[in-house]
Amino acid sequence: MRGFEEIETVGVVGAGTMGNGIAQVAATAGYDVLMRDIEPEYVESGLDAVDESLSRLVANDTITETEKTDAQARLTGTTDLGRLAEADVVIEAAVEKMDIKQDIFADLDAVVDDDVVLATNTSTLSITTIAAATDRAQQVVGLHFMNPVPVMKGVEVVTGEKTTDAVTDLAHEFAEALGKETWESDDKPGFVSNRILMPWINEGIRAFDEGVATKEDIDRGMKLGTNVPMGPLELADHIGLDICLDATETLHEELGDRYKPAYLLHRKVDAGDLGKKTGEGFYSYEG
Ligand code: 3HC
Repeated sequence: MRGFEEIETVGVVGAGTMGNGIAQVAATAGYDVLMRDIEPEYVESGLDAVDESLSRLVANDTITETEKTDAQARLTGTTDLGRLAEADVVIEAAVEKMDIKQDIFADLDAVVDDDVVLATNTSTLSITTIAAATDRAQQVVGLHFMNPVPVMKGVEVVTGEKTTDAVTDLAHEFAEALGKETWESDDKPGFVSNRILMPWINEGIRAFDEGVATKEDIDRGMKLGTNVPMGPLELADHIGLDICLDATETLHEELGDRYKPAYLLHRKVDAGDLGKKTGEGFYSYEG
């Protein structure tokens, strides 16, 4: 297996919110980064998001203008999965659909050197099932970042059925090299983070739908009452309602009725109101 000390180039699959955030923190940490998405416009919008986020970090003195320029010089966008042959570790952050993730991992397995670790940023899907699409299941691990990646300190390391201890150790070390702190979860639905977070969000949506309180009072109540930075409805808008629905459906499928997604969550997603990213969720973000 290619060790932590040998990592120079990081491959990231997916240039969306999580992918571009991961690419950004890796480039800022000094790695050369290849960020791949399927369409040039997705790659461009990922690079724009990195530019915007780095500018915010310059504005609040977290990094200097030179560190921003250097990080951007280390980051290359591409639509060519074949370029990831140059990577010493790969992190996949594509959509939360098992069939798509398995296809990506089968392709990565063919393209990337045999000794390279393949990580997935999946929020709830089984690492073991994703790994089964490769001939290197022992080198597949979950590296679950939190949104917004450049700001959130935590990364969840998830061990699949076949993940070796050396690969798990590499995942912790690599996340720490990106300036993050880690915790570890077994490959169980939702892991630690979303198994606990998603029912909280889902119950907030149900409370709103069932008229317990206004959405503002549900969020205010949880913020003032439990000291969290965002209430369940604003956090759902922040994460994306489609992602909340995918995650909650996985929990429901695997763990039963207590995790059934709220009716209103389905209705919002069906209406295309996915939260901040579409300008409309539980709250309005136009302008
Ligand atoms: N890039 C760079 N900097 C950013 C940023 C980004 N994407 N987003 C926010 N910031 C910076 C801002 O510039 C600001 O800096 P300053 O205070 O020095 O000016 C600072 O972070 C705080 O941002 P804001 O003032 O805009 O807003 P808040 O104080 O409300 O903080 C927040 C925003 C950090 C998102 C905070 O509300 C928060 O921590 N919310 C909870 C987020 C959370 O729980 N994330 C995890 C979700 S679960 C998940 O991701 C797992 C998945 O599987 C679903």
